[in-house]
Amino acid sequence: MRNKIVAANWKMNLNLAEGKQLVEGILAGLPALEVHKHVVIASSFVHIAQTAAQLAGKSNIHTGAQNCSTETSGAYTGEVSAAMLKDAGVSYVIIGHSERREYFNETNAMLAKKVNQALANGLHILFCCGEALEVRDAGTQNAHVEQQIKEGIFHLSAEQMKDITIAYEPIWAIGTGRTATSAQAQEIHAHIRSVVAAQYGADVANNVPILYGGSCKPSNAAELFACPDVDGGLIGGASLKADEFLGIIEAMK
Ligand code: G3H
Repeated sequence: MRNKIVAANWKMNLNLAEGKQLVEGILAGLPALEVHKHVVIASSFVHIAQTAAQLAGKSNIHTGAQNCSTETSGAYTGEVSAAMLKDAGVSYVIIGHSERREYFNETNAMLAKKVNQALANGLHILFCCGEALEVRDAGTQNAHVEQQIKEGIFHLSAEQMKDITIAYEPIWAIGTGRTATSAQAQEIHAHIRSVVAAQYGADVANNVPILYGGSCKPSNAAELFACPDVDGGLIGGASLKADEFLGIIEAMK
């Protein structure tokens, strides 16, 4: 059985006191998680040491980061390396979020380098893909995400794919309140899995978790997560409130 994952992406929100309180609230309400169910808290870099200390010794709830450098170390002002993240207690890193692609001009080639850095330092990867509204309207979303995945992760070996989770996030659904229907999510998740299967075979593809992201909330999570190829969610706005995030975790069946 492949892993189910609900990951919080706090984006550029919360001060240290607010982050601490939010993690306390999540831990207070967190149900016992079966062995294949995982929760990730991906905060900004400044929260990581605090979050890692709060989550130390807890089962199946992990500290995450939202980005890492393409480079190993050295004179790269403002960058944070995958090795630094690992040392600070991170086990999952988001790579290729649409906001990084759009606002910081991250290309698939850069993302492939970040993927290599993360894997070389023992991090699990939440690799994001997803299309803008005009791509969806043109009906070319499958080809769009296929290219993102091929250029971002298909240089990896089958063994390395064990550390990859794919997060499909339609840009038109991020922070908009407009969610993909469960049918839309299932259709493109199944396509993503078929693309992975064509490259690596069915065994590898069946073990890659594929998460949905985009206005996921307690009221729609259960329906989305019930789709056979939807293995959890990458949660933005609803991860900033403990009760909402816990409601989404509860929907992870
Ligand atoms: O990383 C999370 C996604 O961008 C979804 O954000 O839940 O606020 O729509 P959202």
